[in-house]
Amino acid sequence: MRKRLVVGNWKMNGGLAANAALLAALAGNWKQAPGREIAVCVPYPYLAQTQSALRGSEVSWGAQDVSEHASGAFTGEVSAPMLAEFGCRYVLAGHSERRQHYGDTDAGVGAKAVAAMRAGLIPVACVGETLAERDGGMTAAVVLRQLDAVLAALAPQPAAPWVLAYEPVWAIGTGRTAAPAEAQEVHATLRARLAAAGIKDVPLLYGGSVKAGNAAALFAMADIDGGLIGGASLDATEFLAIAAA
Ligand code: 13P
Repeated sequence: MRKRLVVGNWKMNGGLAANAALLAALAGNWKQAPGREIAVCVPYPYLAQTQSALRGSEVSWGAQDVSEHASGAFTGEVSAPMLAEFGCRYVLAGHSERRQHYGDTDAGVGAKAVAAMRAGLIPVACVGETLAERDGGMTAAVVLRQLDAVLAALAPQPAAPWVLAYEPVWAIGTGRTAAPAEAQEVHATLRARLAAAGIKDVPLLYGGSVKAGNAAALFAMADIDGGLIGGASLDATEFLAIAAA
């Protein structure tokens, strides 16, 4: 049975006062049901605050990126063992904004997923095509290339739990969500590749302009196990409504 998971990605948003209110609302109002989980991935400086606010609650937390290295002369980087010290359960790897603006490569994303697993974290590996790639009929080829790089890094078999997120770049922060059937088609493609590699039980999340109003229709799809939520994760009521869907 694949778990149902909704992960908030705060991106580069937040502040101590606003975070305190948001985290308290999540901790106070989320009741975990069997097989259902929520998490928030916060900016690094807020990990300590998040840990103290959510410790003892049923909300998990994590970070938005991780170094592929465990320690050393890598100025500005943050390692997976450091994230583990702050109680992180999840970490994103290869979000499209990291791929677009900070040079994350397919192979590098695989290395980050491995580094996260080594430290006991659950990597959320992200894949997704740009609008030009979709319009060019390249969607399946792009997401499978990105997935294959992660599978190659985890070969012969993933040693620990992980999560895969499909986020079409054209749907991120644009208000333009993939239609449920459109997202399902890509998820089915990804699921088939996982199955061919002998991998079951990896939750497959959809991300890109998910809101309380469209979450239920997306999550009703056979191969969509939850969501990776950007803007709407900054509002506790909206985020909890998505999780309830
Ligand atoms: P939005 O929900 O703001 O479109 O962002 C999606 C995303 O990138 C989550 O990682």
